[in-house]
Amino acid sequence: MGYREIYAQWKADPEAFWMQQAKAIDWDRPPSRALNADRAPIYEWFSDGLVNTCWNAVDRHVEAGRGDQLAIIHDSPVTHLRRGITYRDLQKRVASLAGALRAKGVTKGDRVIIYMPMIPEALEAMLACARLGAIHSVVFGGFAANELAVRIDDCQPKAIIAASCGIEPSRIVHYKPLLDAAIDQASHKPDFCVIFQREQEVAKLTEGRDVAWHAFQYGVEPAECVPVEGNHPAYILYTSGTTGAPKGVIRATGGHLVALNWTMKAIYDMDPGEVFWAASDVGWVVGHSYICYAPLIKGCTTVVFEGKPVGTPDAGTFWRVIAENKVKTFFTAPTALRAIKRDDPGGEFVKEYNLKHLKYCFLAGERADPDTIAWAERNLNVPVIDHWWQTETGWAIAANPMGIEPLAVKHGSPSVPMPGYDIQVLDEGGHPLPAGKLGAITIKLPLPPGNLPGLWQAEERFRKSYLTQFPGYYETGDAGYIDEDGYLYIMARTDDVINVAGHRLSTGAMEEVLASHPDVAECAVIGVADALKGQSPLGFLCLNRGATRPHDEVVTECVKLMRERIGPVADFKRALVIERLPKTRSGKILRGTMVKIADGTEWKMPATIDDPAILDEIATALKTIGLAR
Ligand code: COA
Ligand code: AMP
Repeated sequence: MGYREIYAQWKADPEAFWMQQAKAIDWDRPPSRALNADRAPIYEWFSDGLVNTCWNAVDRHVEAGRGDQLAIIHDSPVTHLRRGITYRDLQKRVASLAGALRAKGVTKGDRVIIYMPMIPEALEAMLACARLGAIHSVVFGGFAANELAVRIDDCQPKAIIAASCGIEPSRIVHYKPLLDAAIDQASHKPDFCVIFQREQEVAKLTEGRDVAWHAFQYGVEPAECVPVEGNHPAYILYTSGTTGAPKGVIRATGGHLVALNWTMKAIYDMDPGEVFWAASDVGWVVGHSYICYAPLIKGCTTVVFEGKPVGTPDAGTFWRVIAENKVKTFFTAPTALRAIKRDDPGGEFVKEYNLKHLKYCFLAGERADPDTIAWAERNLNVPVIDHWWQTETGWAIAANPMGIEPLAVKHGSPSVPMPGYDIQVLDEGGHPLPAGKLGAITIKLPLPPGNLPGLWQAEERFRKSYLTQFPGYYETGDAGYIDEDGYLYIMARTDDVINVAGHRLSTGAMEEVLASHPDVAECAVIGVADALKGQSPLGFLCLNRGATRPHDEVVTECVKLMRERIGPVADFKRALVIERLPKTRSGKILRGTMVKIADGTEWKMPATIDDPAILDEIATALKTIGLAR
């Protein structure tokens, strides 16, 4: 069957479609039905099934004779190491870690924060939680202690599993002091912390609270898989919203298993035994879905890459990893390819490696610009597939499904809706727009399995953020249009979220940090176009009347403050001091107009502007840093 038939089959009977896909999962008790709409517009999938994620990702493959196959390859140019872990080893390691966590009181439903770099132990920690029915929340290593503290207070973990350090090309990231500072700051205190000591930096353990990864597993009884209900939360992953407080996206167990398993063949054309590589980080949704869970659920080998697209040691690293590990499907962010293209425009490094196993290159995380796609197509000589999704959905909303039927590629479009998603472009009043017209991109409820059923202990926020603006639809926060052939185009965000190097960041959260500087009276943060990272944050600061200190000192302090409070991942390096912010007569800051001026794109004077002269001042200030041209 082709894409159109499969999409029509799903649309005609979504329940039957997903019940059919659920058969590929091992259930302790199969679900009697797919969708539970009792609390619509809050929906659940496979609620009455009983299942365990770790069983499906690890144990069942050992039982099925894949014990000697590699489950994980750790390829780490920053430590010059490359090693593999078989499914049998993984089962032993995860059962032992889960047993040790259980012995210290972690049980089904307890939260466990994982704060680790790109090492196999990060996946083992996730799987050990899944084995017990504990709910993990992985925090990206590029966040500062304050962001970790916010997450500790929100999900109240019983335990935190961390590594002693991470390795960035320019420095060692000292995880342990960050962890200690976060626990100091947080009101909630975990019962204990498990520290994985890396040889690059051994951390001092806090007596009475910290245990060492290996020592605490000594002599424990390995844990068996604990079956959980289909609607039991598998994990919480925090993501940026409009306000400062991150949103705790919940992933429910049953739908997660069914949907991810389905995508591996349908979208990525993967079969058991083949090698899949998503060059992301376990701290992001791509890492959850396509470094850890989906490849393992499908019985593939997953690559855990600890390095960068350039500089570790050069722009050929990605091609080396693909060649040496026989990667069939490769997934990265456009920004990574732009970084490689900048260092190696002619693709000379590609020619040094034998990429005969590579069949596809998938891109997501931000808009894929046609130039970058064309460069990759030319040099890699495989289909380069843009696909669009979000932390909330957990898997692609729109894609070109290579395992079903490769469709014609249109550069600039992530192609067509996947089964499960009825995408509608709506105007402000919630009316469907015709082909080619720009509007809010929404998904008709219910969302498919694997998508978020809610936010952690924040149902009102969930309803308000996603379900209220367009009743009966999920609001994605992206704007765009669908063309005459049904291809989707993602053009912009409708909220204050920006995308820097494929990382989703909240300008609202950054403004909160700037506003806390004693000299700052008012501020705004916008995302300006950046040739490498897609967008780059830029701050505008209006200082208090009495502030007499040199402006560059205040700016330097604000940059430092952002790094301390949000972390290096915010990549906040520039701010301008200005007299006033442009606002509407009702006091709304005209961020959209500021972005257009900064990017040098066409803009119109907003009819509601309070004082048009401010925009000239802004343009002059922007020119001093090479923008607004
Ligand atoms: N732990 C600690 N710090 C981290 C980190 C981590 N896991 N990841 C990034 N950082 C830090 C970096 O060291 C850098 O700090 P600096 O300001 O001291 O230099 C800062 O965060 C910004 O990092 P990054 O965005 O990686 O910028 P870069 O200039 O070092 O590298 C790219 C540019 C394009 C190579 C890089 O952004 C990249 O690989 N992007 C792809 C990201 C990706 O795959 N995203 C997909 C998510 S789905
Ligand atoms: P995250 O939740 O961090 O994965 O970020 C999701 C957001 O990134 C989306 O809502 C989009 O704004 C953007 N995004 C992700 N993939 C794409 C894509 N293929 N094209 C355009 N924007 C994308």
